[in-house]
Amino acid sequence: MSMHPRQRLPRRAAPSAAVSAGDGTPPGIDPTGSPGTPTLRFPSDFGWGAATSAYQIEGAAKEDGRGESIWDTFSRTPGRTRNGDTGDVAADHYHRWSEDLDLMRDLGLHSYRFSVSWPRVQPDGTGQPNQRGLDFYRRLIDGLHDRGIAPMVTLFHWDLPQSLQDAGGWENRDTAYRFTDYAEAVYRGLGDQVPVWLTVNEPKTVVQNGYLQGHHAPGRQDPDAAYLVAHHLQLAHGLAVRALRASGSTARIGPALNLHPCYPADDTPAAASAARLYDGYENRLYLDSILSGGYPEDVLADLGAGSRMAQGIADGDMEIISTPVDLLAVQYYTPYYVTADGLTTRRWPTSQADWQQIYPDGMYDILTRITRDYGPVPITVTENGLPCPDVPGPDGVVDDTGRIAFLRDHITAAHRAIADGVPVESYHVWSLLDNFEWAEGYEQRWGLVYVDYTTQRRVPKRSAHWYRDVIRDNGL
Ligand code: FCB
Repeated sequence: MSMHPRQRLPRRAAPSAAVSAGDGTPPGIDPTGSPGTPTLRFPSDFGWGAATSAYQIEGAAKEDGRGESIWDTFSRTPGRTRNGDTGDVAADHYHRWSEDLDLMRDLGLHSYRFSVSWPRVQPDGTGQPNQRGLDFYRRLIDGLHDRGIAPMVTLFHWDLPQSLQDAGGWENRDTAYRFTDYAEAVYRGLGDQVPVWLTVNEPKTVVQNGYLQGHHAPGRQDPDAAYLVAHHLQLAHGLAVRALRASGSTARIGPALNLHPCYPADDTPAAASAARLYDGYENRLYLDSILSGGYPEDVLADLGAGSRMAQGIADGDMEIISTPVDLLAVQYYTPYYVTADGLTTRRWPTSQADWQQIYPDGMYDILTRITRDYGPVPITVTENGLPCPDVPGPDGVVDDTGRIAFLRDHITAAHRAIADGVPVESYHVWSLLDNFEWAEGYEQRWGLVYVDYTTQRRVPKRSAHWYRDVIRDNGL
């Protein structure tokens, strides 16, 4: 396991978001910063990046032999997404990838995290890879290298081939083995040029949004199925790590987990214990199984020995799931405050995404907690960002001041964690481009770069210019 050198850096208190203004700008913060005079420097080898995912940006849903994914099915089902939006065209990145790579180069990105679309590579989820699908990613990866940007490739960002869903999807243990075959096919096609692989993006979101609440594909509301799905996603992760290693890969491999600090909503012991169990479902279910080799006892007890998940854990599964990883990809958006009865309340202003409370200290808390509880596993922050109601002004400028303040405060919190010894080696903004935000369609804009969906014109927002300066100065 390669370790990022620990660096002690000068400390600076993170500004509190407690009294954030409506646009997300904390008082006393000049969101534009002062380029060229950073007061907060990052380690000299720190990596700055941005992230996207296939279904959210590519479009070209029917081109070059791509098969159907569960998100094609879901988004084309009336009532499932806002305004009936689909990823059919999205940001048309499949055709505009070269222009998008130039934008990344202009930003000065060191790293670009994107995902491979499983149904582009295996239209039916199994068998011989579709060469035209692999060729697209080959062009993209070569283009990144030409511009000096390191690819970071997520193997699964939710677009499961529909044919696998028809065979039971992630409720079917076999899907984990199909994922392993797919991972090997992608590795054979692209592996020589990819330094970092991420296996499964946010298994918890598949579990909670896809199988508990049902507002993501495949749109189920079945708690017993949900945690069996959690186990199979974890198994898929571990099997893929093993398969890539067995293929001779020397690349670094890890999971991509969205983690949420869970705080008691009040001082009562009941709230403390409810928050602890909530943390089990939000964080430890995924962290403990991968990094400590077992599911948390409290969560297993809460699910019950008769649950489909408990019944679905076969001998040897935990060894597979806990196959050592090289790094942990952390995605941080929001904290949770848990009441005595196990519900959540809000304490901080929310963004346009009503599930997101703006709380930069949560970034510090979750990063330091990983090192405290699991040791110095190298961390890359692979998602962090804010949706804003961005519109170009009469001068054409997209003035996303709230996003700049958000990024500034969260990057500051990550810096504090590094200063306290957490081996955070890189940071990626979600997202490079405005894109298809799942059930929210195109309404929420998360990009550094504005996309005019009528013309597909790209306009770097003010935050893009600001982030370029952060990268140039290696700090803020
Ligand atoms: C994360 C997802 C990403 C995007 C952001 C806003 O949960 O991984 O695709 O939707 O949230």
